[in-house]
Amino acid sequence: MGINVLVTGGAGYIGSHACKSLSLAGHTPVTYDNLVHGHSWAVKWGPLVEGDLHNGITLRETLRKHNIQAVMHFAAFAYVGESMQDPGKYFRNNVANTVTLLDAMVEEGVKNIVFSSTCATYGEPGESPIRETLPQQPVNPYGESKLFIEKALKWYSQAHGIRYGALRYFNAAGADPEGEIGEEHDPETHLIPLVIQAALGQREDVQIFGSDYPTPDGSCVRDYIHVTDLASAHLKAIERLAAGSDSFAVNLGTGKGHSVKEVIAAVERISGYPVNARECDRRPGDPPALVAAPGLANALLDWVPEYSDLKTIVGTALRWHAMKLNNSGSALSA
Ligand code: UFG
Repeated sequence: MGINVLVTGGAGYIGSHACKSLSLAGHTPVTYDNLVHGHSWAVKWGPLVEGDLHNGITLRETLRKHNIQAVMHFAAFAYVGESMQDPGKYFRNNVANTVTLLDAMVEEGVKNIVFSSTCATYGEPGESPIRETLPQQPVNPYGESKLFIEKALKWYSQAHGIRYGALRYFNAAGADPEGEIGEEHDPETHLIPLVIQAALGQREDVQIFGSDYPTPDGSCVRDYIHVTDLASAHLKAIERLAAGSDSFAVNLGTGKGHSVKEVIAAVERISGYPVNARECDRRPGDPPALVAAPGLANALLDWVPEYSDLKTIVGTALRWHAMKLNNSGSALSA
């Protein structure tokens, strides 16, 4: 039977894809979003409640009014560089507001939550691939804010019987294979959309941050995971909790890494356009390689990525960005 799920940040990139997966599985996603970074056009599979997470009263009213049985919590700031400049913004929004959400859940008797965590909680791990048992030692306030919430969840679980799935994403990428939604960040800082914009002539060039890393081609290696695969992992996580499972924390990645230079080559190949790439200095805080050991998620959630080969990631993202370019100035930017 379908359940009603509060999706904080449901108007954002990953949240909107999760709403689609929930809806296709017969559940009702209720998006809760202040639309600071989210987009009302991305809310297509259930109601939108415009609200701030720091507003505990509105949160409680929403949980009651929509008879919410579980929460998927995406809403957060996620710019690593910005978090270094303005840590307070990250601790207020990502930490304090999540505590308000957890308190609202406790007060309204909502027990299950799937939380967007991140590989940034591991910091600069000495090992690759990264297993969940490695120490979590973030090297920036963004990762610290997410780690704090993982810890808070443990204590809320003990004190109040909250059950949680903490999903530590690696590099989210790609767009809905049916072209209904996709990535739209302002400013855009992520590699794949930037390379695609360069291929489509929307920017002059793309910078390669570091070409002297101890990796096969000298550029950084990341584990790119398709946003639709992330969405399906969220669905499986919430259904697992609804079936009564204990809390869990798992990596969401593929186990396979791609270098910056490989990504650029893939975009050139798939788009058919050349990309003007410049080798630049390293970006502070970038570990050489971050690749998940995905075995625990595979086993616990019975989840295997289906869309996360580089060809599908780049192909779906390219289609989305090309469509946005064609539509620019019309419905999409409304
Ligand atoms: N990169 C470039 N040029 C660019 C942008 C990125 O070379 O213009 C490189 C980065 O140095 C990195 C790789 O491309 O090696 C991927 O960079 P992204 O900015 O796309 O993603 P990050 O790996 O920095 O960040 C992602 C998530 C964060 C999360 C982090 C954990 O977006 O939310 O992983 O490391 F915190």
